[in-house]
Amino acid sequence: MSPSPSNEASENVASGPSPLPWHLLPDNASVGPNGRLSIGGCDVLDLAAEFGTPLFVYDEDHLRSRCRDAVEAFGAHATYATKAFLCQAMAKLAAEEGMGLDVASGGELHVCLAAGVSPDRLVFHGNNKSLTELRMARDAKVGRIVVDSFDELDRLEALHLEDGLVPSILLRITPGVKAETHEYIATGQDDSKFGFTVSTGVAKQAVDRAVEMPGVELKGLHAHIGSQVFRIDSFAAAVKVLGQFANPLGLPELVVGGGLGVAYVEGEESASIAQWARAIRQSVAEANIEAAIGIEPGRAIAAGAAVTLYTVGTIKQLPGIRTYVSVDGGMSDNPRPVLYGSGYEAFLPRAVTANRTFEARIVGKHCESGDLLVRQAKLPQDVAVGDILATPVTGAYGHSMGSNYNKILRPPVVFCRDGNARVVVRRETLDDLLTTDLG
Ligand SMILES: Cc1ncc(COP(=O)(O)O)c(C=O)c1O
Repeated sequence: MSPSPSNEASENVASGPSPLPWHLLPDNASVGPNGRLSIGGCDVLDLAAEFGTPLFVYDEDHLRSRCRDAVEAFGAHATYATKAFLCQAMAKLAAEEGMGLDVASGGELHVCLAAGVSPDRLVFHGNNKSLTELRMARDAKVGRIVVDSFDELDRLEALHLEDGLVPSILLRITPGVKAETHEYIATGQDDSKFGFTVSTGVAKQAVDRAVEMPGVELKGLHAHIGSQVFRIDSFAAAVKVLGQFANPLGLPELVVGGGLGVAYVEGEESASIAQWARAIRQSVAEANIEAAIGIEPGRAIAAGAAVTLYTVGTIKQLPGIRTYVSVDGGMSDNPRPVLYGSGYEAFLPRAVTANRTFEARIVGKHCESGDLLVRQAKLPQDVAVGDILATPVTGAYGHSMGSNYNKILRPPVVFCRDGNARVVVRRETLDDLLTTDLG
């Protein structure tokens, strides 16, 4: 698999007319005789009419199939990173398919517990877990706490003195491998807020301390080099460092994190979960690692499973400059373009295979010039006000990173399967905006 360049921080540059590349759509996408797109057997224009826009439409079987791929490769040591996309239905789905779930805050923990996920299948992360969060995780008896700092070890020790509980932990290790991705989501380099650094000797000090501490049971190590990483050799480099560090310790578990990149735009190619798993297995064998290996994918499970539907409200032609197509969502449902300069494609579900010959910038409805969804999009020539417009590959870090900026109501999420659409997150209401506002 030849690596594709990460589209983080690269602009989405239109490269001549073409239809939407089909592989950017969910597994169970199809075109009806009328040229209209269906996902999971549901006509997406009907979904827009029924549930309104903006709307996240997920192909449920796509999610299930990616979870199964991960479990097939790493069994019970395959963990879904819920930060990519979380609601109770998603937590249940990942657990039903045999995955553990990684949570990175008390909030994510709360949602997973509310969904009925067995606590021993939960892995609790975070570089600055509060005492309250650590209490929650310990009281719930989560399977693993991934400890990120000496201060956290202090907190765990103090809590142990209070109640005598001994949680099982992994130590987050920084291998000193800089993944090729946007700097905001690269986490394996030495200069990082995450983990204990190998090269400075701090990781060894952390292991020594954890082994001595009565308040924790050290089960193994954890590393995560970053997100949206296309280069498989970056993972291999991390495994090599981890092997050198971990092998003499003889700990039973080693989690190599998530981070597998996905294709967002035309021309990008990504490895499948199975290919990624094979490469990890190979580097694990080369590094003579005997510990049980775990992975923690988020994006690779959820990103490609969804499209977001919007309604075109305004088309503004600036002669000699560009055309702005404004839709009814924006940075509040997909902040990635604003945060990382991420690229996306766009298309019209009423004509999903149509050639896209019209260039425009697709922007949201927020009060910021930076509120753009696709910097340089291609659309069919006849795009018009009132059209339903879609962006594919929005299943990860869209809904989960969304906000209420401008008091925009968060969109609903529907799971589609075998022709049935199930609302798993309803649209926010105006009254929801006031639930925490005491007036
Ligand atoms: C510790 C950890 N594990 C797993 C992930 C999931 O990464 P991805 O969604 O790129 O697979 C992240 C993402 O930031 C992470 O911080």
